[in-house]
Amino acid sequence: MILYGKKINELIYYLLVDEDDPYVTFKSKNYIQNIMFLVVVARPNFNDEGYIASGGKKKIVGVFYKGNEFASLNPNFVGCVEGALGIREWLESQGHEYIVTDDKEGLNSELEKHIPDLHVLISTPFHPAYVTAERIKKAKNLELLLTAGIGSDHIDLNAAASAGLTVAEVTGSNVVSVAEDELMRILILVRNFLPGYHQAISGEWNVAGIAHRAYDLEGKTIGTVGAGRIGKLLLQRLKPFNCNLLYHDRLKIAPELEKETGAKFEEDLDAMLPKCDVIVINTPLTDKTRYNFNTYINLFK
Ligand SMILES: NC(=O)c1ccc[n+]([C@@H]2O[C@H](COP(=O)([O-])OP(=O)(O)OC[C@H]3O[C@@H](n4cnc5c(N)ncnc54)[C@H](O)[C@@H]3O)[C@@H](O)[C@H]2O)c1
Repeated sequence: MILYGKKINELIYYLLVDEDDPYVTFKSKNYIQNIMFLVVVARPNFNDEGYIASGGKKKIVGVFYKGNEFASLNPNFVGCVEGALGIREWLESQGHEYIVTDDKEGLNSELEKHIPDLHVLISTPFHPAYVTAERIKKAKNLELLLTAGIGSDHIDLNAAASAGLTVAEVTGSNVVSVAEDELMRILILVRNFLPGYHQAISGEWNVAGIAHRAYDLEGKTIGTVGAGRIGKLLLQRLKPFNCNLLYHDRLKIAPELEKETGAKFEEDLDAMLPKCDVIVINTPLTDKTRYNFNTYINLFK
């Protein structure tokens, strides 16, 4: 979990949480449990048994996109309004009020109506509830801004930190999806798949137009800039394709993983880039990683 705006003594509470408690498991990889955990600890207090208690009944607002006709097709499709993240029953059994809407923009929206008295606002990256300084100012009871996924760009982090709010996201919740997506995009691009697909559906048959730049992945050099959770999963997934794998990071990955994947560490980014046929960026965007990759284009193979 990424937590912004927490004071160190508040973070210590997190570490003291009893990991056997089903709803407050700090190291749980279970996405829903992490969300429940974050909601429970919005303002941590210890109860008589020494467990973290929720600090009273909360008004929780979830902002998600509508599932419409697709909502009922898959019981595990919980990221939509109808699925409500799958936590309605649990939240309501704890006595919390849980309001879910997709209506989030403007002063007449459903979200805006609840801003003055909500305690927790949950949102997702692809249908984000924008939390501006003005909304934070109006939200007198607000304690927790939670992204059910990764990314907090929709929140004015400075305003949230000044107001002492916890901003949290469920780190790691979709790293496998991202690594698989990266692998898919590499294959699609290297194989020149999309122009071929468009030809096929439009009844064209110009093989040369596709083949002149369609390649096998085998034998190509793939470099990941960043080998954290996603970068490592990508290296593992690329291993069976018999590529040359390189990675640049501040830290070396474990020797066992280097051995398993055959990936080679490149301390110097400028030295790695010209060796690569494919480069994948897997670092967070910070001042230090705000490389302008366009300036490297002449170095690329
Ligand atoms: N958009 C999405 O849906 C989505 C989903 C998941 C993750 N992400 C983002 O992707 C990024 C990577 O995710 P992750 O889970 O692998 O994160 P991670 O923290 O596990 O890995 C990031 C890696 O980047 C390295 N790094 C950081 N700064 C560096 C620098 N200046 N030079 C070299 N290496 C540096 C770190 O050492 C680390 O190994 C994060 O920013 C995450 O928020 C986005």
